[in-house]
Amino acid sequence: MISEIAWADGRCVRFDEVSLSPATHGLSYATSVFDGIRTYGGSIFKCDDHIARLRRSAELFGHTVHYSDADLADACRELVRANDLTDAYIKCLVFYDDTDVSFKAQGSSSKVVLFALPFPSYSAAEHYRLSTATWRRAPASCHPYQAKTSSTYALSYLSHRGRADGYDDVLFLSTADAVCESSGSNVFFVKGDALFTPTAELALDGITRRVVIDELCPRLKLSVTERDIAYDEIGSFDAAFLCGTAIEIMGVSDIDEIRYAKSAVVDAIATEYRRLTNGRSAIR
Ligand SMILES: Cc1ncc(COP(=O)(O)O)c(C=O)c1O
Repeated sequence: MISEIAWADGRCVRFDEVSLSPATHGLSYATSVFDGIRTYGGSIFKCDDHIARLRRSAELFGHTVHYSDADLADACRELVRANDLTDAYIKCLVFYDDTDVSFKAQGSSSKVVLFALPFPSYSAAEHYRLSTATWRRAPASCHPYQAKTSSTYALSYLSHRGRADGYDDVLFLSTADAVCESSGSNVFFVKGDALFTPTAELALDGITRRVVIDELCPRLKLSVTERDIAYDEIGSFDAAFLCGTAIEIMGVSDIDEIRYAKSAVVDAIATEYRRLTNGRSAIR
């Protein structure tokens, strides 16, 4: 449940007092951007990376954010304190807040709103079952995948609605049948001591993905290759997992008809990630 206090226009306010016009640009034109940030024990995990990404996403959509990175980090901390949270998920939204009904949003001002929720563990599931999404990812020249923009998630939402019964999430494929990512996390495959993950061409270069590649793999002496992965080859891997701020490290037991066994490599990555988050990430 969303916590009582939000942060808007530079200060903490009651969440239910934040109001929006129905003509808000982002509602019609999907021009809002956001970032999802996690705190563990009251500390913001990878704070600078999240705020830098929020700013990049905002700049891509022409938003002017009138707060410095330090202001935004302080806002996150203030929000968590005001709600008396320790392990929390913070959503930072930037959107045009005006009633210009043309899509140009000329002279519009950008509003920054943050809200939080207690977030001890994303899911009780031990493994996720994935089905391929009914919608394909357009080529990178058609969509800014490195921005966390609401437009990306319209397809996630549609695909979740079309997901077959019993599956937890969807796996997006490109129009050339290559693996991209899930609706809200990156995907890795395991073969022996080697990890494979799609390039960041058709997937968000997620902050957790970077933690796995740059911090956990060297520590665990696992090799990692970023390359195109054809849907046809995913049955040849030993195991698979998802990663993201919200989901942390989540093993995958099925993709469509393909079954993956429990994997010591995935367990080791989850354990190392837990260490990095001071033992506070979900215990699976
Ligand atoms: C589409 C998508 N891919 C990947 C991720 C994982 O990114 P991160 O690890 O930065 O949370 C997310 C979550 O933000 C996402 O929404």
